[in-house]
Amino acid sequence: MIITRTKKEFDRYYKLIKESKKTVGFVPTMGALHEGHLSLIKRSNKENNFTVVSIFVNPAQFNNATDLINYPRNEEKDFDLLLKALCDIVFVPDVNEMYPERDNRVFEFNGLDRLMEGKYREGHFNGVAQIVSKLFKIIKPNRAYFGRKDFQQAAIIKSMNNNYLKDLHIEIVTCDIIREKDGLAMSSRNQLLNESERKSAVRISQTLNKYVKQYSKYSVQELIKKITDEINQDYNLKVEYIDIVDDEDLQNVNKIVPGKTTFCVAVYDGEIRLIDNLAVK
Ligand code: PAJ
Repeated sequence: MIITRTKKEFDRYYKLIKESKKTVGFVPTMGALHEGHLSLIKRSNKENNFTVVSIFVNPAQFNNATDLINYPRNEEKDFDLLLKALCDIVFVPDVNEMYPERDNRVFEFNGLDRLMEGKYREGHFNGVAQIVSKLFKIIKPNRAYFGRKDFQQAAIIKSMNNNYLKDLHIEIVTCDIIREKDGLAMSSRNQLLNESERKSAVRISQTLNKYVKQYSKYSVQELIKKITDEINQDYNLKVEYIDIVDDEDLQNVNKIVPGKTTFCVAVYDGEIRLIDNLAVK
C-alpha cells in the first residue's frame, strides 16, 4: 500500500495506474475506520483493479467547532486496517493541501440540502461537496463508493456529480449500512459514547425496525410520533428529527410505498449526534 500526503506525490504514483488503463475505485473517508468503511473498500476491490482511499477530516463540513476538535483520529490504526483490506493507495492530505486558499464555491442541489441534515447542519453539505469535488478532480476514479448510512449525503453527491462533474464520468455506487451485532449503525462517532450512552444507542435502530415493520398499521404522522416518543423514553436520547421520505427526491411522504420510502432519524445520545435510516422493503 502506498501512502501519499500531497497531490504531487499522489500524481507520481497514480500516473502509472492511469496509463495502464485499469479501473480505479475511490472511497472517501474521514478516518477512524470501521467495518462500514471496509465494506466500501471490499466492494471497490471487487469491481475495480485498484482502490484509492482518502482520509481527511474536512473542516468545511463541520458546523460545530467542538465536533471537529473531538472527531476521532487514529492514523496508524487506519493504515493497518487499510493494509489488511487491500487498499492500493491511501491519500492523506492536510488542510493546507486541500484548501490552499478559501473555497468560496456554493453548490446548488435542487433543494436536497434544505431537508433533514441540511436543516440542522447549516453549510454541511456545501462543505461535503467542496471536498468531494476536489478529491474527485484529483483522483478521477471510474467509480466512487458511498454508504447508505449517510442516505442524504449519497443523494447530494449524485446530484453534484451529475450537475457539476459530468465530464469526469464517475459512477456513484451506494452500499448498504453495516451494523453492530445489536443493530447500532457503525459510525466513527460511536467510539465517543460512554458505556451508558452506548447501551441507549441500540434503541434507535430497534425502534426504527419495529415501526418500519408495522408501517401499514399507522399514518405517517402517527409513526413519527410513536418513534419519537419511544426513542425519547431513554433518558440519554433526544430525537432531533424523524422524517419519512421518498427515496428519490427525499421529500416527506404522506403514503408509504415499500421499495420507495425510507425512515430517517437524527438523535442526540448525550452530546453525541447519531444518524440512522431504514428502508421500507
Ligand atoms: P465518513 O463518515 O468517514 O464516511 C465515509 C463513508 O463511509 C461514507 O460514504 C459513509 O456513508 C460510509 N459509512 C459510514 N458508516 C457506514 C456504515 N455503518 N455502513 C456503510 N457505510 C458507512 O461521510 C464522510 O466520511 C464524509 O462526509 C466524506 C464523504 C468523506 C467527505 O468528507
